[in-house]
Amino acid sequence: MIRALVLLSLNGCVAHTPDLGVDDSDQPAVDTGATDPVCAGLGQPCDALAPRPAVVDCGATLRDLVAADAPVSWPDSLASLGCFEGTAPLKPSPGVLRYDVRAPLFSNGSDKGRYVVLPPGATITPSVDGPWTFPEGTLLLKSFGLDLLVDGERAPRTLEVRVMLLAHDGWKFATYGWDEASQDLRLVGEKGRTEALTLPHEDGDVLAWYFPSVEACLTCHRKAGDQVLAVRTSQLHHRVDYGDWIADELVAWDAIGVFDPPIASLGALPTVADPYSERTPLEPRARAWLHANCAHCHQPEGFAPPTLALDLRYSTPLADTSTCMVPKQSGFTTGGQYVLVPGDASASALVQRIRTDSFEKMPPDGASRYDEGGIQAVEAWINSLDGCP
Ligand code: HEC
Ligand code: HEC
Repeated sequence: MIRALVLLSLNGCVAHTPDLGVDDSDQPAVDTGATDPVCAGLGQPCDALAPRPAVVDCGATLRDLVAADAPVSWPDSLASLGCFEGTAPLKPSPGVLRYDVRAPLFSNGSDKGRYVVLPPGATITPSVDGPWTFPEGTLLLKSFGLDLLVDGERAPRTLEVRVMLLAHDGWKFATYGWDEASQDLRLVGEKGRTEALTLPHEDGDVLAWYFPSVEACLTCHRKAGDQVLAVRTSQLHHRVDYGDWIADELVAWDAIGVFDPPIASLGALPTVADPYSERTPLEPRARAWLHANCAHCHQPEGFAPPTLALDLRYSTPLADTSTCMVPKQSGFTTGGQYVLVPGDASASALVQRIRTDSFEKMPPDGASRYDEGGIQAVEAWINSLDGCP
């Protein structure tokens, strides 16, 4: 529901100029003039959007602990974290704000839910193209759902809920994994674990699901970089279907007082392209997919060796990505001579490293499913290039 696109225009709104010539006819508009643009434009009560200020503050216990300068002692089960009222389906408690990103990370084809919980009365300081500043005590949550084979039947399950908590000395990480016996999600230890999941037959048989260790969280959510990867302007600047009405996610957050100053007051806002929309031209589509699936490791502060100099962020011009006709450096066998060969995806190490099923596969997450929609966009884009910039 949340990804549905409905062409409904907000009153008197002005669209921004997107990066890379993205077709923005499905894009939201930001009304910088009206005091209450969403509500004024749609004739809807703003408090229908999300129950803020929080009725139940599900991060309260954790925040007390953090304030006492103690190491975070995570509750044993998701139920005792108090942010969800049920797991099948996952139902956020009042005060938990759901959001969606425009270019998501592919994780074995699972359905994801993303949530923010702010301490009562606290606000986020937004930025146009940099990281946002979150108040201490902010909780960010991401859930993963998949259909499993349970007693011979296809059954949807919430498999995992990952949590980030902003303590006085930085972000803390933990994850909760599905436990059949307790019918709840239980805290996964710091070392993580892998579980073999039985899938409905038409989807294959068994999927090895990795619940990451805290150390693994930090390979992607790098201490040296922006630890919050996608809760930022370019990822949330899009139309979202809230059930009764459709609004730009950022404008909607402004309307319920999430930002101080209001984000609409910052002027034109950038957006990353939708990697799955047929209406998006190939280059921004492919670059958005690479951004979502590769850039957390392949950027200057990323986990990949700096000697590679690969920078796959959406905002980096192609000439500066260190790909086009750049000799590959990895000693691994997969991949031709160059990282990217314009006009020839199959000769490009970048594509070969995505397509291989060996341990050299990129991204190196052990996922056994391939995101065909996104990968084909990358291949088509490389095939369409007639030279390097
Ligand atoms: C392979 C890289 C990778 C690993 C490992 C990883 N994450 Fe993430 N995570 C991402 C990316 C990329 C996003 C943003 C894109 C999205 O939401 O689809 C994200 C988003 C999140 C978010 C939403 C806030 C944000 O940064 O956008 C939370 C919360 C989160 N991850 C928690 C965790 C926790 C906890 C762990 C470890 C148990 C973990 N992640 C491990 C890549 C990773
Ligand atoms: C979890 C971190 C991580 C993610 C995510 C990741 N990579 Fe990598 N990548 C690495 C590391 C580490 C290396 C260096 C070692 C090696 O070659 O495997 C590397 C190497 C590479 C190389 C070899 C470059 C050369 O000069 O030989 C290519 C190409 C590459 N990655 C492409 C990608 C693509 C495309 C994606 C996304 C689909 C991706 N990577 C996602 C960590 C990552």
